[in-house]
Order: sequence, then structure tokens, then C-alpha cells
Amino acid sequence: MEKNMITDKLNRPLRDLRISVIDRCNFRCQYCMPADSFGPDFEFLPRSALLTYEEIERVAKIFVYLGVKKIRLTGGEPLLRRDLPVLVEKLSAIEGLEDIGLTTNGVLLPKFAEQLKKAGLKRVNVSLDSLDNELFGKINGRGIGTGPVLEGIEAAKKFGLGVKINMVVKKGLNDSEIVPMAKFCKDHNLELRYIEYMDVGSTNGWKMDDVVTKKQIHQLLKEHFNMEPVNPAYFGEVAKHDRYTDSNVQVGFITSVSESFCSSCTRARLSANGQIFTCLFNGNGHDIRNFMRNGATDQELAGRISAIWNDRADRYSDERTAETNKQRKKIEMSYIGG
Ligand code: GTP
Ligand code: 5AD
Ligand code: SF4
Ligand code: SF4
Repeated sequence: MEKNMITDKLNRPLRDLRISVIDRCNFRCQYCMPADSFGPDFEFLPRSALLTYEEIERVAKIFVYLGVKKIRLTGGEPLLRRDLPVLVEKLSAIEGLEDIGLTTNGVLLPKFAEQLKKAGLKRVNVSLDSLDNELFGKINGRGIGTGPVLEGIEAAKKFGLGVKINMVVKKGLNDSEIVPMAKFCKDHNLELRYIEYMDVGSTNGWKMDDVVTKKQIHQLLKEHFNMEPVNPAYFGEVAKHDRYTDSNVQVGFITSVSESFCSSCTRARLSANGQIFTCLFNGNGHDIRNFMRNGATDQELAGRISAIWNDRADRYSDERTAETNKQRKKIEMSYIGG
């Protein structure tokens, strides 16, 4: 878009764009898309509903023009979308975009890591909630052991992608893995981020009692490791970090439940079927797919996106109570990709 056409000003920062490229996943993680809610009759989006790569590229360019510096591709499982490296290549050519990451369960990385790196991908965040095969199989609902994920992590490292590990901690399920995961990641030079189990969507049966907080995890880690806090790398960073004092490895905490961070939230989400969501917990999407398909110009699209963002008043995690949790229309994590 021509710079001299700038008429759209945002009144609040928009730095990150999370793009879901597909709503399907080869896992059925208990905390995200439990198998009994996504059975054989569940209707996923038809192909024609998905934004094409050309449409995603167009929208991404407009977001970058409006200030976005970082794009993260998510799903479902993004590597299930055919030819994902083609999209990465298109996005990495966008001027002004500083970072492209991918959030994945890792099992398809041995197949795609090299192509993704060549296409311009910088980093992957891989979900791994346990090192114990049996427990991991139970959590992912598919009986898949840790082997394929560990191979995925190795492949990503081998081809020079940055790697972080995401571990969602649920009380009574995998809290026994907090320390083993820390040891493993420290030894393998991997940044591990503990994620507080969140009440996303309405299928995971979330209860406050199931949450293990950052404070509790930190307490436990301090019994095994010497750690010191690290300052945030930039405004709006999701994870809070510590560093092990005897190495350069960091460990992070995503405290969406116990210490919400809505006041510094700079993230917009684009669903696979072209709706913009202004919060992970706000189920009211704003369509831009049909707007685009009906012939909107770039300037009109930019205007619409700015208006959506300027109207935003989301601070769900700040306001979370049992009541709001029941009342809100929410969106499934598998659909918006976290
Ligand atoms: P980095 O660029 O590596 O910092 O990635 P990230 O942490 O933004 O992305 P990732 O997909 O790895 O997300 C990790 C976890 O943080 C997921 O469980 C997300 O749902 C959660 N998360 C990310 N952004 C937000 C947010 O805006 N609000 C809340 N409540 N949780 C978020
Ligand atoms: N609570 C917290 N994190 C979740 N994720 C999926 N469901 C939940 C939940 N209920 C995480 C996954 C993945 C990221 C995209 O979102 O672990 O790392
Ligand atoms: Fe698990 Fe991610 Fe798939 Fe959800 S989208 S079921 S968290 S692998
Ligand atoms: Fe942003 Fe919503 Fe997450 Fe708060 S709960 S940080 S407003 S996405």
C-alpha cells in the first residue's frame, strides 16, 4: 500500500498478529480439543472457507502497514495445512516484518523444518507437556509417545530454527513433570515455558482448582535450581523469564491466570476462515474474508482493521471470575490457535 494513502491511525499498539491457518489437529490434547468433543462427526471448516495464501499475505501486509512486527502461525496444527513453506516465503518477503514464528506439536517438523527455514521461518514453539511416554500419550489423546516430538525438536535445531518448548501444566495430570522437564530442557539448551492452564473455549472443563500457578512452579524449581529474574525483552512480551545462574538457558512462565497481562496486550488473531478476534477469550469475530472477497480495496481493509482494533476493550484475563467464565461466548483454542 502507498505510504501517502495513510489515513488509518491506531489509538493503541498492535504489534503481534497470530494467524491460524487450519482448524484441524492430529492431536486431541485434553486441555485444548478433548477427543470426546471433537469426535468423527465434528464439522471442521471446508477448504473453501479457509483464506487462501494470497488472501493471508494481503491481510498480513496490511497488518504490517498498521504496525505489526511479529507474525506467528498457529492452527489447530499449522503443519497440516498443505505447502505451509509457500506461505512462510510470502510472509517473509513483507517489508517491515521482523519475526515469523510457528507454534506446533512438532511431529511434522522432521519433514518440514528444512523447507521452513529456507522459506524464512525464524523460530518454532513446540508443545511438550511430559517426558513420560505413557502420560504424554494420555494427554495428547492419541497415544502418541514423545519420540516423534523429540525428533521434531532435533530437526528444527539441526536446520537452525530457534526452539522454545511450551508445557501446559494441569494439576494432578502433569505437575509431576515440572522438574524433569526443567532438567531436560536445561540440559538440551532449550527455553521451556510453563503455561498456566486456561479456561479457553468451553470443551476442556476448566476449573480454577486445576491451575498450577507460576508461584507454585517457581517455588518448586527453586528447590532444584539457582535462578535469577530476567527483564522483559520488549513491551507486551507474554512470558516472564528467569535464567539459571550456571548457564545461559532461560525458563519462562505464562501467567494468564494468576498474573494477567491484558494491559500490555498487543496481539490480534486472524482465524483460518478470515475473522479477526481481538482477544483469545472474545468469541465475537469480525469477518474480513467476505469483505475482501466482495472487492474491498487495501485502503478499505486497512480502515476496517483499524476500526476493529480501535474499538477493542478486551481484558478478559484481568476480569476473569467464575461468573464471567460462565456467561461469555468463547472461542475454542483449536480454532484460534492460542
Ligand atoms: P513468543 O513469540 O515465542 O513469545 O510466542 P508466544 O508465547 O506469543 O506464542 P505461543 O503460541 O507459544 O503461546 C504460548 C501460550 O501463551 C499459549 O498458551 C497462548 O495461548 C498463550 N498466549 C499467547 N498470547 C496470549 C494472550 O494474548 N493472552 C493470553 N491470555 N494468553 C496468550
Ligand atoms: N491452557 C493453556 N494453554 C493452552 N494451549 C492449548 N490449550 C491451552 C489451555 N487450555 C497451548 C498449547 C500450545 C499453545 C498454542 O496453546 O500448549 O503450546
Ligand atoms: Fe494439542 Fe496444539 Fe493440537 Fe491443541 S492444537 S490439540 S494444543 S497439538
Ligand atoms: Fe489480550 Fe485477551 Fe489475553 Fe488479555 S486475555 S492478554 S486481552 S488476548
